[in-house]
Amino acid sequence: MADILDGKTLAERIKQRVRREVASLNKDAVDVGLGVLLTGDNPASVQYYKTTLGACRKTGITAYEFRFADTVSLNELLNSIHAINRDERIHGLLMLMPLPARINARRVINTLVPEKDIDGLGSISVGRLSADESTIQIIRQTGANTMNRDAMNPAAWSFLPCTPFGVIRLLEHYKVPIRGRHVVIIGKSLAVGKPLSMMFLAKEATVTVCHRETRDLGSMTRQADILCSATGKAALVTGDMVKRGAVVVDVGINMLQDGTMTGDVDFRSVARKASLITPVPGGVGPVTVAMLLENTARSARRFNMLHPSMTLA
Ligand SMILES: NC(=O)c1ccc[n+]([C@@H]2O[C@H](COP(=O)([O-])OP(=O)(O)OC[C@H]3O[C@@H](n4cnc5c(N)ncnc54)[C@H](OP(=O)(O)O)[C@@H]3O)[C@@H](O)[C@H]2O)c1
Repeated sequence: MADILDGKTLAERIKQRVRREVASLNKDAVDVGLGVLLTGDNPASVQYYKTTLGACRKTGITAYEFRFADTVSLNELLNSIHAINRDERIHGLLMLMPLPARINARRVINTLVPEKDIDGLGSISVGRLSADESTIQIIRQTGANTMNRDAMNPAAWSFLPCTPFGVIRLLEHYKVPIRGRHVVIIGKSLAVGKPLSMMFLAKEATVTVCHRETRDLGSMTRQADILCSATGKAALVTGDMVKRGAVVVDVGINMLQDGTMTGDVDFRSVARKASLITPVPGGVGPVTVAMLLENTARSARRFNMLHPSMTLA
């Protein structure tokens, strides 16, 4: 039976570190601020919105809420982003996806300045990740002083998307070897699958990315030393699709009709084959939120170094 990759415990550790960093910035007269933008009432987005606000409260980060009906216009959203870009109290913005289908989401995302793109979705952040300009953040072992040390390092000025970065952190925390391993990722979205593939490449894994058009998915997944699924399809991955001893990371979040939350992985059959597995809930989700807070604190630290808040005696 597989051991559990426990995201909750790791998330608490990261949040403790963020709390200390926020307190240290407060001493320098800097309040750390996160904008959270939600359109409409998609249940998964509303849930994430509330979780993020709660996590901000617990870490001393001030949340600035931007809530819109799903009838919001493109201009209204763009004006808000311009205001956020100028607002010195806000160090990062979490934009809950999806935006309403008639809105050009890429245009909205790319209006946010890269310095506040703490979820790494803008074209500049994506480009820097692809060009290995920001991957130093994941290549280097993370430690207690990383946030301070990286604040003035140009390679750390872009932010890595929180969910895939969280997957890497979780594997590192459990000392799962990545270099030279065969990683199979199901899903190629800009938010999860694609950046995750680049992060694994940066860590010198051999990476296969699967999607809806992949033929014979099982023949791919059975080759994986590390299998990550990010599709939003409940029970897509079953025990017969997993090599014995593989590490299985379930990014998926699916709400079943009875209100329970489940991932993409059929936990019972896969846990019999895997060596390590993430639960849903309690796996990747809590680490994602913790990474978002860490990126926000990092942004505030950098901002304070570039624009000192206190007079140097
Ligand atoms: N735990 C967290 O913190 C967290 C954070 C973000 C997202 N999520 C969850 O992760 C899941 C994926 O999110 P996302 O934003 O990446 O979703 P997305 O944009 O809908 O992308 C889903 C991906 O899965 C692929 N896919 C769907 N059905 C498939 C199938 N039957 N076989 C193979 N590939 C399939 C799609 O392939 P095509 O590209 O070919 O269509 C697509 O690349 C969702 O459940 C979401 O709620 C969790």
